[in-house]
Amino acid sequence: MDAIVENLALPQPDFEVAWNTIKVDAGVKERLVAQSLLSLQLRQHYSFEAMPMHGLIVLSGPPGTGKTTLARGLANEVGKAVGKARYIQLDAHGLGSSSLGKSQKEVSKIFQQTIPEFAVLGPTIVLLDEVETLAADRQRMSLEANPIDAHRATDAALAGIDLLCRKHRNTLLIATTNYPKAVDRALLSRADWIEDIGPPNAEARKEIILDTLALLAKKWPKVEGLKSHVAAYIHASEGMDGRRLRKAIAAAAAISIETAKDLNKLRPEHVIETLKRAASQPDIQENAA
Ligand SMILES: Nc1ncnc2c1ncn2[C@@H]1O[C@H](COP(=O)(O)OP(=O)(O)OP(=O)(O)O)[C@@H](O)[C@H]1O
Ligand SMILES: [Mg+2]
Repeated sequence: MDAIVENLALPQPDFEVAWNTIKVDAGVKERLVAQSLLSLQLRQHYSFEAMPMHGLIVLSGPPGTGKTTLARGLANEVGKAVGKARYIQLDAHGLGSSSLGKSQKEVSKIFQQTIPEFAVLGPTIVLLDEVETLAADRQRMSLEANPIDAHRATDAALAGIDLLCRKHRNTLLIATTNYPKAVDRALLSRADWIEDIGPPNAEARKEIILDTLALLAKKWPKVEGLKSHVAAYIHASEGMDGRRLRKAIAAAAAISIETAKDLNKLRPEHVIETLKRAASQPDIQENAA
């Protein structure tokens, strides 16, 4: 099994787009970049004991709030700031779920061999997407049928991160989770910074809506006219995550076969109706609660 699902030289134009796609407070993006650069820098100057920086940033929040996309964008921003860097994404699911003691060995190998091999060549940014599968909470495992392997995989991940950050000071780990309660607390405790990414506020929804309409208007120019009702869309989309919001704006065109074929026929009331329906679906209400 190959534990690395993506391996790229930074910066990447796609990642730049990813960073700009996600609408969050400007302060959040700035903080993430600053914290990443700070962690890298402090580790150059101090011993781990004096300044226990693990080079681990965690993005936590509900599904569809842009964590994975933001993580890729963040990697790119850091890559640009340090000149160039290597980006790798690990397969947390594959690593965390192997059976018969395999996962423990594979997780150890990743932190003690695979990542160090990149790190000796230069700054290395690692995405641990959905980290709850790699570092599952050991306290919860007692209820599971065969928790031993998962327990050992979490132990191996924690030990691996400790070793890695002491030996290689130019690594940055960016982890995401939409289920922080399932992540082992010892992993969260190692984070230099945990950013809680919530559903987009009114300002962010406005940007997402206008961005999506602008994209559609490139192909169907009359969509441009829908922008004048943005206040109503913002109101109708309260509580939605960014992913659902982008989908719902586009889904408004499925109000009829005619509009689906020609988006120039899309009307503001179609958008409002679709947003209201999408926002009132049960899982959305849970998120908003
Ligand atoms: N705040 C946002 N601003 C703009 N677009 C957003 C935002 N949040 C989500 N999106 C849209 O949703 C898509 C999916 O986001 P992403 O996969 O990064 O979410 P996630 O938080 O990692 O979700 P999950 O927890 O389900 O993995 C993005 O590519 C983007 O189009
Ligand atoms: Mg994700």
